[in-house]
Amino acid sequence: MEKEEIIQLLQAKGEARTALLQRAQDVKVKEVGNKVYFRGLIEFSNVCAKDCLYCGIRKSNDKVIRYEATDDEILDACRFAWENKFASVVLQSGELSSPAYVKRVDKLLQKIKQLSNNELGITLSCGEQSLETYKHWFESGAHRYLLRIESSNPDLYYKIHPQNDMHSFDKRVEALGFLKKAGFQVGTGVMIGLPFQTYEDLANDLLFLKKLDIDMCGMGPYIEHEDTPLYEFRHQLKTKQERFDLALNMIAVLRILMPDINIAAATALQAIDPAGREKALAIGANVIMPNLTPTAYREEYQLYEDKPCLDEDAELCRNCLEARIHVAGAEIGYGEWGDSKHFKSRTKEP
Ligand code: 5AD
Ligand code: FES
Repeated sequence: MEKEEIIQLLQAKGEARTALLQRAQDVKVKEVGNKVYFRGLIEFSNVCAKDCLYCGIRKSNDKVIRYEATDDEILDACRFAWENKFASVVLQSGELSSPAYVKRVDKLLQKIKQLSNNELGITLSCGEQSLETYKHWFESGAHRYLLRIESSNPDLYYKIHPQNDMHSFDKRVEALGFLKKAGFQVGTGVMIGLPFQTYEDLANDLLFLKKLDIDMCGMGPYIEHEDTPLYEFRHQLKTKQERFDLALNMIAVLRILMPDINIAAATALQAIDPAGREKALAIGANVIMPNLTPTAYREEYQLYEDKPCLDEDAELCRNCLEARIHVAGAEIGYGEWGDSKHFKSRTKEP
């Protein structure tokens, strides 16, 4: 697909849009099947060393009460995931790279593997780290990693991040390379509907993902947060509904561009439309991340406005999700890791 064609598709409305979404769903079912895989999301700490201009838990937001879940709380959530046949968990936190943090994650990985008989798959979403750290974590049992590039256009990247060494575009791209080298299934993604973002930027984002040959993608609408610098530009944004529709178009085009990767239905979709994630599952996504963060902490992990499931406990969330996925016409891959098919073919011995 050429850039011009992608730009057209991203703007598709009416019948053209219906056809695009249908085509994406067909490609998905044909290439990766109609199963949805669960990844229990554990947002284990909101302590963050970074100051991204869009993010509600940025370092400079002193309204946030910082927390670190205890090992027991994290392991309980993992046990819940395992016992409920979620098969995988995602450990996510603010970005830190102190030796203490690196060590803590490493210990957690080993304990999670132990408690689950090595059965629970572990995805990390723990920011930019050195190649050594990534290798270490891989050896301790993590096998997938999410690190969103946020925008593949360096100019736009520096409009939504401070311009300093802590927030370097080049370093983020380099980290994605390290992850591959360390052996991970690599996931990245972008925010959709950012201020200053054009359709061409988004088309380039998709081509960037393709060029990087990623295994997984999570991308969702940008949602403003009152206590962040980017809030100033809220009047320039598309409506939330427009950002939502555009996010679905992005997912659909990506599914057509990269038929055998795993695509997550981002939680941010649900912040705009209560059935947002299920809608994504019906047009190309095949992974969902039910929130297993201890409810006491959820209030303090608000990356954006209207983040859903603030007080649902894990059991409730599971039942409700299950019902909604069945309504969306998909099956749940209970007890299966649901690894990226793309990863398997890219790493197959010749
Ligand atoms: N709107 C939408 N997504 C956001 N994220 C952070 N802040 C926002 C926001 N305001 C996303 C980023 C990050 C992921 C964990 O959450 O893409 O990588
Ligand atoms: Fe969270 Fe249903 S998905 S309560």
